[in-house]
Amino acid sequence: MEIMNSFYIAGIPKVTFGAGLFADLHKIIRAYGRNVLVITGNESFRKSGRFDALKSDLEKSKCKVFDESIKGEPSPIMIDRIVRDFRKQTVNVVVSIGGGSAIDCGKAVSAMLAEDGSVKDYLEGVGTRKPSGDKAPFIAVPTTAGTGCEATANAVISDTDEGFKKSLRHRNFVPDEAVVDPELTIGAPSALTAACGFDAVSQLIESYTSTKSNVFTDSLAIKALALASRNLLPASTDRGGDITVRSAMSYAALVSGITLMQAGLGTVHGIAGPLGGIVPAPHGTVCGKLLLPVMTLSIKKIIDEKNTTALAKFADIGRAFSDDQGKDDNFYVEQLLGVIRSWTESLKLPTLSAFGMKQSDIEKIVSLSDNKNSPAQLTGDEIRQILETVL
Ligand SMILES: [Fe+2]
Repeated sequence: MEIMNSFYIAGIPKVTFGAGLFADLHKIIRAYGRNVLVITGNESFRKSGRFDALKSDLEKSKCKVFDESIKGEPSPIMIDRIVRDFRKQTVNVVVSIGGGSAIDCGKAVSAMLAEDGSVKDYLEGVGTRKPSGDKAPFIAVPTTAGTGCEATANAVISDTDEGFKKSLRHRNFVPDEAVVDPELTIGAPSALTAACGFDAVSQLIESYTSTKSNVFTDSLAIKALALASRNLLPASTDRGGDITVRSAMSYAALVSGITLMQAGLGTVHGIAGPLGGIVPAPHGTVCGKLLLPVMTLSIKKIIDEKNTTALAKFADIGRAFSDDQGKDDNFYVEQLLGVIRSWTESLKLPTLSAFGMKQSDIEKIVSLSDNKNSPAQLTGDEIRQILETVL
């Protein structure tokens, strides 16, 4: 019998998942108290009427609603300003409704309401202080299906002046609740849906094939991958209004956050992290551009090194993506690469030079990149070769 990897399961938020359940959000919020800080990202959510309905329901329940609308990715200046404005109020609960930026912003604000100083003092690789883990309760309500940050313990904070993208992290920063209503993702533009979907799929593939993966994360990730493989293209093209398709992608994104928290990530994110600090390109677009070249070289390396254990994991994903049965592992890894190639060709993400990436950025990105928990350790030369193809 195969020996099972030992594992430890870190926190998972309380999850409310389902189409139309946004209507119950006010009840979930109210359970935490009366003073509510709501942070929203995209303007379309405010225009949808849902924000006004939520505010009205909360006020009917005698809640005092403070609200903030953010633009772009959260920066130290943004977080410090919001915290300064609300530190003197008793905020019982912070609620973020939006994409990754709004959720990371709320996660950081909920943490910093319990700390003094600037968020910069607590960022990994930037500050010298460690977060205590104390925080205001936090509820994450995603309006995109991508980063899975509704289930993770870190908030990514960007400083474009100093050129960094770093995490505020503590195991207590996993949101207290994730309220995932796939209806909120209907209406997201095709390009955004595609980029976010690529992020979720990358996270699922990387956590499933991670050297830290385990039976718990594997069983979650493989079903989510099977769903994502059949729904990424329809969600991003002609069936973006179909709630079944959107539900599959919202589920895949949520699970990707859970599995990456427990099993870690691989080379796509090992490159995307530092690249995102240097080039102001959306994280999902970066993952989407990197996925095919990273998987192609990683699988080639695994085959060359005769790493049959890792090959079997990649083959499992190809099997979940395929209707063919009874073939060998080499057949299914080709299936996997074929599906990723077809997504890449159909969804046509822009090259990263469209976001200002230059040839001269490549060396710095290579020097800061790593393979995280990938079973294939790509060399600096191989990472350079990959970056040439996404420029
Ligand atoms: Fe990601």
